[in-house]
Amino acid sequence: MSGGWHWFVIIGTVGSLIGCLWLLFSNRSTSGDKTTGHVWDGIEELDNPLPMWWVWMFVGTVVFAVGYLIWYPGLGNFAGISGWTSTSQFEEAAEAHEERFAPLYRELAALSPPELAANRQAQQVGRRLFINHCTACHGVGGGGGYGFPNLTDDEWLWGSDFAAIKQTILGGRSGIMAPWGAALGEDGVQQTAQYVRKVAGLEHDADLAEAGGKHYATFCVACHQADHTGNPLLGAPNLANDSWLYGSSLEEISFTIRHGRNNNMPAHADVLSEEKAHILAGYVSSLSRKGE
Ligand code: HEC
Ligand code: HEC
Repeated sequence: MSGGWHWFVIIGTVGSLIGCLWLLFSNRSTSGDKTTGHVWDGIEELDNPLPMWWVWMFVGTVVFAVGYLIWYPGLGNFAGISGWTSTSQFEEAAEAHEERFAPLYRELAALSPPELAANRQAQQVGRRLFINHCTACHGVGGGGGYGFPNLTDDEWLWGSDFAAIKQTILGGRSGIMAPWGAALGEDGVQQTAQYVRKVAGLEHDADLAEAGGKHYATFCVACHQADHTGNPLLGAPNLANDSWLYGSSLEEISFTIRHGRNNNMPAHADVLSEEKAHILAGYVSSLSRKGE
């Protein structure tokens, strides 16, 4: 804190301690008479001194405060002679926690993917890690949301195998589709969107879809493939099933075609150790196999 605030805190703290003591001692002596002279409805206010046990208890709290302010930080920038800080206490606790659980992480990280799937403890640890690091985007159960892929179904943008999932977690992924509005024109966008709905088995306009098929063959096959199953090397989704990142409505599909999409899964290599990513990949892999 800056010099001004440093002194403001010190003067305020020390001043209020001295003020309390002054208040205590300046009120200790009595007038010598038994009463203060105040009378209400015939009831007199007595003028007894404060009991000594109470006075000493009060003095004791002030002595405690002085000791506390010398030992712990409390007076402006003065760090206290104990050297304690809340940050160091947190770091020590985090370190002790890591040390305590390191053997467990090491043991679980040595398991193969099928062993991870069968190991109850690995699943529990994986679930905890998932709740801490992933639920904000993917939801508590991994069900995803608008723009966030569902991890519990068996459609994968970037591949379903263990190594691909682990790579997604550590290195992150960028799902980028360029905009096609300018190349196709608005009519072309609508025709291609009808074609995508046809491919997905949804209600569509047959004439428009037929024209859209030609656009698809020109502009879209490179990534989404001739059989519409997508390409895990580019994160291009399968368009022929009922799993959607942005929903299957004509509006959403034509929006994607017109404006493109730019989606990002952040890399977690600097947050999660390789061991934790391994355990997490085991947990994520098993989410989509729950129903089997
Ligand atoms: C800030 C939001 C965010 C967080 C946090 C996040 N993800 Fe993601 N994740 C995404 C997005 C967005 C995508 C889709 C990327 C794309 O469109 O290609 C994604 C994609 C994935 C995929 C690929 C899915 C597929 O179909 O191939 C996996 C696996 C995954 N995330 C797992 C995780 C795990 C495990 C964590 C926790 C360590 C995590 N994510 C944390 C946003 C997030
Ligand atoms: C350069 C490769 C590439 C090309 C070419 C491409 N796409 Fe895509 N497309 C992607 C990627 C990658 C995504 C996923 C974007 C994301 O992760 O948000 C995507 C997403 C989509 C989606 C959203 C799917 C969902 O689940 O919500 C639709 C629809 C789509 N593309 C249709 C098309 C059509 C139609 C064309 C041709 C006009 C096309 N794409 C051309 C790569 C491509």
